[in-house]
Amino acid sequence: MGSVGQTATGHRRRVLFFSLPYQGHINPMFQLAGLLHARGFAVTVFHTHFNAPDASQHPAYDFVPVQFDGTPADSADTVRVTVEHVLAVNRACEAPFRERLAALLEEEEEEVACLVADAHLLTLMDVARGLGVPTLALRTGSAACFRWFMAFPMLCDKGYLSSHVAESQEPDMLVTELPPYRVRDMPSASGATLGLMRDLISRAVTAVNASSGLIINTFDALETDELASLRRGLAVPVFDIGPLHVHSPAASSSLLRQDRGCLDWLDARGPASVLYVSFGSLASMSAADLVETAWGIANSGRPFLWVLRPGLVRGAPPSQPPPLPDGFHAETRGRGTVVSWAPQEEVLAHPAVGAFWTHCGWNSTLEGVCAGVPMLCRPCFGDQMGNARYVDHVWRTGLALHGELERGKVEAAISTMMGAGGPGTALRGRARELCRRAAECMAKAGSSDLNVDKLVNHIMSLTA
Ligand code: UDX
Repeated sequence: MGSVGQTATGHRRRVLFFSLPYQGHINPMFQLAGLLHARGFAVTVFHTHFNAPDASQHPAYDFVPVQFDGTPADSADTVRVTVEHVLAVNRACEAPFRERLAALLEEEEEEVACLVADAHLLTLMDVARGLGVPTLALRTGSAACFRWFMAFPMLCDKGYLSSHVAESQEPDMLVTELPPYRVRDMPSASGATLGLMRDLISRAVTAVNASSGLIINTFDALETDELASLRRGLAVPVFDIGPLHVHSPAASSSLLRQDRGCLDWLDARGPASVLYVSFGSLASMSAADLVETAWGIANSGRPFLWVLRPGLVRGAPPSQPPPLPDGFHAETRGRGTVVSWAPQEEVLAHPAVGAFWTHCGWNSTLEGVCAGVPMLCRPCFGDQMGNARYVDHVWRTGLALHGELERGKVEAAISTMMGAGGPGTALRGRARELCRRAAECMAKAGSSDLNVDKLVNHIMSLTA
């Protein structure tokens, strides 16, 4: 397959990449780069100084830094801060990206096939097209999430998303225009924040429609109807080629050092005995929720591996691991281990892991699906509530924890997921079945495998 990304005269075609500078976006972009590199394409990665990838991990790629080192503001309003930061990346990178891309084209114009950019980077995709480079949009979230993006103006107009209306409605009320979402499965906001979200989301839909195609990290058996709906609603081809981490693991694009010692710790545990707990790279929780989480885990009596990322707990010093409640270590000695950051894909694939407590970021959700383990879902913001809805209600491979976090509820949910017999048996059976269907999609002539071939042919056919 090594020669597919080459022209008839034997030149390697070059694919340029530009990701949003967050872990949950960087990982799938590097996984896609790895996939296309294995198909014979040369790879150039444009990136901001903020959260710059480690070029030494990818000696076969070229890296082009683009001046932007602004960090997101420190605030509990994760939605507003993240939206403002994404818009700032677009604004601040426009001029330096134009300069860097023009310089690259002077040297290598013949080779460049396209730019693959995160769908949230509309301004940079416009720059590329202005310089004659075709663009493909990469969506790192689910197809359901993008369908929700496309319905966003209607949902706003009907008042589902404004917080004062959402709070006065029953949170469990079904959004009849967009099942299976309920009011609680969509982020609500007020005033200026809702306006910012609307701007961000309409820009992503514009970016996809203006591109030469949408690459999306999902697979047909997982989101059949949602993908069909996207194909009906979009004028560009859609390439569902996920789960991307199965093609090409993400360890090398981790922004934090992964503590691999926890794999040795898992080696000493029995099959499917350990609860793995991680809330991803951006989600945060209150100090009170940390206490309930800790005692829920401790009281479940199960072995556990818990990722306590510095910065996870609001108000705690961001550079240190959050402090656990007094007595927690004594209570759980010999039964659990806590790390700052784990090699998550390897942890989930480890036979000792029997369940995953997750915030339902899309990468974590897909990684959990592919590990075939049931998931306890505690979504925090953005697409995570919708992802939890699919786990809990559509695929029925996990349980969602809503409302106030309380140790008794946590303990009961862990016991259901991991206990012998009862509803846990059915959850685990469906999780294994979904994992099997993911493997089928990825196997030779499965839907994702065929879509990778189509994507490669599409890239080779692109002309400015
Ligand atoms: C963000 C948003 O929070 C999420 O809603 C959106 O879907 C993607 O962007 P993030 O919080 O980073 O995502 O979560 P997620 O999408 O799950 O990505 C986290 C990545 O970090 C995963 O690939 C996971 O394997 C990796 N990870 C996580 C580690 O390598 N080690 C860890 O200890 C925890």
